Formats: sequence, structure tokens, C-alpha cells
Amino acid sequence: MTEYGSFPGARPRRLRTTPAMRRMVAETRLHPADLILPAFVREGIGEPVEIGSMPGVVQHTRDTLKKAAVEALEAGVSGIMLFGVPDDAKKDALGTAGTDPDGILQVALRDVRAEVGDDLIVMSDLCLDEFTDHGHCGVLDAEGRVDNDATLERYAEMAQVQADAGAHVVGPSGMMDGQVGVIRDALDTIGKEDVSILAYTAKYSSAFYGPFREAVGSSLTGDRKTYQQDPANVRESLRELALDLEEGADMVMVKPAGPYLDILAKVAESVDVPVAAYQISGEYAMIEAAAQRGWIERDRAILETLLGIKRAGANMILTYWATEVARGL
Ligand code: PBG
Repeated sequence: MTEYGSFPGARPRRLRTTPAMRRMVAETRLHPADLILPAFVREGIGEPVEIGSMPGVVQHTRDTLKKAAVEALEAGVSGIMLFGVPDDAKKDALGTAGTDPDGILQVALRDVRAEVGDDLIVMSDLCLDEFTDHGHCGVLDAEGRVDNDATLERYAEMAQVQADAGAHVVGPSGMMDGQVGVIRDALDTIGKEDVSILAYTAKYSSAFYGPFREAVGSSLTGDRKTYQQDPANVRESLRELALDLEEGADMVMVKPAGPYLDILAKVAESVDVPVAAYQISGEYAMIEAAAQRGWIERDRAILETLLGIKRAGANMILTYWATEVARGL
């Protein structure tokens, strides 16, 4: 650096002088098409039900879900990820409602596809936890442990009914070993070669899923630590990544997003498939709660977190703010 007397020779502040200058030199930009809206649909309700720990997010009725999908599409959002909330009475040990062609998630997939066609990418959560009476993501063995391979058979069937119901993309989120390969086979077997798999590749056992458990009326007691990853680990994610790609994942995801930006950056730099990140319920709730108390500027905080996730390497971001943010961009 050249020194001119005591004046600095380099002045990075020059590029920060005005909004127009800052806009021109910005390295990362959010676009509505980066965003995917996760949405909950609940069986047997006449009105949407507010989720206390996620102000502004509801359990949709079939009707309001269709409206939310159309609004997302009109705002330029790329996709919608559906989660079904069955009647409590329909939960059982095997999560049967999750593979019933008339189960709430399948009904909702058909509803939304009929509304948006191929213009909005319709994705389905492929996991048993919303449908099991014990709340685990898989079926249990005689000792009450989550049985990996018995669960895979359930996932295979689930993938097929979701594809039949119109899912463009299935999102296996249960972290069973071998799930991507089994699901790929199951889809190909029924001629659904075009249905893609968005693999939850690195899914950490996180405290930030708390509000989601309310959102889906989860029956879980205990935790998911025997299948979701330990927050302490990095290499484990790279191993999961290699396996998912080998098994045929079309896209990979890191979840949660904010506390795992290092993982996201590593995954993004080492793959040749699109990378998604899921800004989860607890990340949403923290900002909404702090903003309600006037402790944080809500809109700036939201954009800053999303920009951070994109900067770290995500091509797609699942966020409960998708429609609102897309409208504002
Ligand atoms: C499992 C699933 C969960 C989330 C998405 N898929 C819950 C969990 O693993 O406990 C969490 C999403 C969120 O917290 O926003 N079906």
C-alpha cells in the first residue's frame, strides 16, 4: 500500500458512500426465486389455526393452503414444501396416515397441484413423525428403538403415494441410512423417474425445531439424537453428503441454516448439485419474538439472515417468510 503522508492510501469506505454505490458493488443479492415456502395443512379444521410460537404462520385448511400457494407463486417464490397434520385419532405406530392416498398430505398435494400446475414446484416432506403416535420419524422395534430398515420400507411407500398425488420433489427428512437410494428405487419402479429428491443431507438434532413441534402437533417425547446429527460434527455431514449423492440425491439440504453456515459453506463448495438451506421454525421464532419486544428491527434482521444463508452458498432457501420477502424484493 502506498502511503501519502499520514493519509491512508486505500479507502474501502469510498464504495460505501451512497445507497446507489452500495447497491452496485453488492456481491450477493436475494431474488424471489431463491425462496421456498414451507407450509402446514391440517386435517378437519374449518378455519386456519394460529401457531403460538410462530406468529404469522398458521396450520392451513385445504382452502387457505391453496390460496397461500397461489400467493407464493404470484410473489415469485419458486416452491412450496408441504407438511401434513393429521387428526390425532389417525396417528398410529406405523404412521399409516402418511401412506394413505387419502391422507391429508396427499390430499393437499393434489389440491395444490391442481391450483398451480407446474408453475410452482410442489414439494412434500417425506417423514413419518407427523403421522406416528410416538412422534418418531420412523417405526420402532420391539425395544422401542427406531428401526432403520423397517422405516425404509415405509418411506418407499410414502414416496410413491406422494409422487402419485403430484409431488414434483420429495424431501426425505428422517435421516435414516439409505433413505435416498430406497426412495429413488421406489419412484423409478412406478415410472416416476422425473420426481426429484431433495435430500436432507445434513440435518442436525437441534433445539430450534421447538416451534415446529407445535406446528405439527408432534407427539414426540424424548429426542431424535439416534438419527439426527450431533451439532458438534462437521465430517459427519461430508460423509452424509457423499452417501446421498451416491444414492441419487438431485439436490441436497443443510438444516437448520443460521447456526450451521459453516456446514452450508463446506457442502456448497464441494458439490455439483443445487444446495438448499432450511431456515427453521426456531430461527423464525427468535426474530419474531425479539421484534415483538422492540429489541430488533424485524425486516432488516430477516433480510440479513437470508442474505447470510445465500452468501454461505445456498441456491435455495426454505423460509417461513418466503412470500413476504419475495413481495418486498
Ligand atoms: C421432520 C421435520 C422437522 C422439521 C422439518 N421436517 C422436525 C424435526 O426434525 O423434528 C423442522 C422444521 C422446522 O423446525 O421449521 N418431519
